[in-house]
Amino acid sequence: MSAQTFSADVVVIGGCGHVGLPLAIVLAQRGASVVVYDVSEEAVKLVNRAVLPFDEPGAGPVLERVVADGRLRATTDPAAVGLAENVVVVIGTPVDEHLNPDPHAIPRALRAAAEHFRDGQLLVLRSTVYPGVTALVERLVAELGRDIDVAFCPERIAEGRAMVELHALPQIVASRTQRGQDRAGALFSRLTEDLVFVTPEEAELAKLFTNTWRYIKFATANQFYMMANDRGLDFERIRTAITHDYPRAADMPGAGFAAGPCLFKDTMQLAAFSNNNFALGHSAMLVNEGLPLYLVDRAEREYDLRNKTVGILGMAFKAGSDDIRSSLSYKLRRILEFKAGAVLCTDPKVTVDDRLLPLAEVIERSDVLIIGAPHEEYRSLVTDKPVIDVWNLLGNGVRV
Ligand SMILES: NC(=O)c1ccc[n+]([C@@H]2O[C@H](COP(=O)([O-])OP(=O)(O)OC[C@H]3O[C@@H](n4cnc5c(N)ncnc54)[C@H](O)[C@@H]3O)[C@@H](O)[C@H]2O)c1
Repeated sequence: MSAQTFSADVVVIGGCGHVGLPLAIVLAQRGASVVVYDVSEEAVKLVNRAVLPFDEPGAGPVLERVVADGRLRATTDPAAVGLAENVVVVIGTPVDEHLNPDPHAIPRALRAAAEHFRDGQLLVLRSTVYPGVTALVERLVAELGRDIDVAFCPERIAEGRAMVELHALPQIVASRTQRGQDRAGALFSRLTEDLVFVTPEEAELAKLFTNTWRYIKFATANQFYMMANDRGLDFERIRTAITHDYPRAADMPGAGFAAGPCLFKDTMQLAAFSNNNFALGHSAMLVNEGLPLYLVDRAEREYDLRNKTVGILGMAFKAGSDDIRSSLSYKLRRILEFKAGAVLCTDPKVTVDDRLLPLAEVIERSDVLIIGAPHEEYRSLVTDKPVIDVWNLLGNGVRV
């Protein structure tokens, strides 16, 4: 079946999400006609009104333009899957409460729309998947008896940088067949000429290794931080000494909450993939997830927390973001609700938590402040209250 029989170029399944929507917007910006298919009615309504359902710098004006030009529209109708030659899947792939990945999440979503797939399509998996999912999807397509090429092309943007990185990052492209590889390459050459071709299994591991590598690096810094801090030393002074004009250590991150919807869960996906024989990954998880407990323990040694009100500044999972998914500030809040007299929280970006208070009120009513997310808004914070700042946002050091 020729491409001319499709009314759109690309349909993005899960296209109202944090990575699906920026991709849909940029493909439309580059001239493609894009249909976003998503199960979230609320998000679909917003996108059709050219409103972003979440914050993504630079994406708003482009969304307005491509919606106004008729190059992007959103729908909750699964029949949209049959409208385009290229079908890109970017639904969420979280681990469950036991940290198990769900390799069937994507096949299940595709099965639900199975009747709408058509011969001649290219099906691109863009979510971060458990290794073997591409092969599962290839089998599903064969079962359906459809002549569809399958590719896995992992998304590697960081939230908050999508509109820069989608134009700048090389694209990893993987398909079992030459035709699939050529077609997926052609799709992503709309974004960049820098394409890296590997096999699907290599690409699946490439994505998990990327996130796990980052997670382990953060854990290393956090462990160093705790070691130094336990001896009354300021890790940031040590890190500055190490990294000063010393290229081999230039990428050593500072301490801080390593959280969010990707790094932890992808490290756990990799652990499950290696039958839980992943000492390094599990250790990284213990260190990173343990940092809020460590900070509270240190604070307890300094202050009688039971009689203190603690203010958490920043509830998003990282600086500049409005995304609270898997944010360690919430873990910190839960620990403090148990240990402290009272806990107050604030965040200039987060809009989905009605317990948040204005910054001035939190500062006024708190005895001790903790920076949970190092938003720029806090850099110029002026207060005589003690501030626990593992990020060194205020430049006063990171000792607790
Ligand atoms: N968030 C990131 O920074 C990031 C970066 C790179 C890769 N990824 C990966 O991208 C994938 C998506 O992550 P996200 O953060 O955008 O998730 P998200 O939850 O923000 O978006 C997923 C979207 O899919 C929709 N959806 C869920 N099931 C669906 C279905 N059956 N049919 C149609 N729509 C459906 C949801 O309504 C949501 O809008 C994950 O695999 C994630 O690991 C995320």
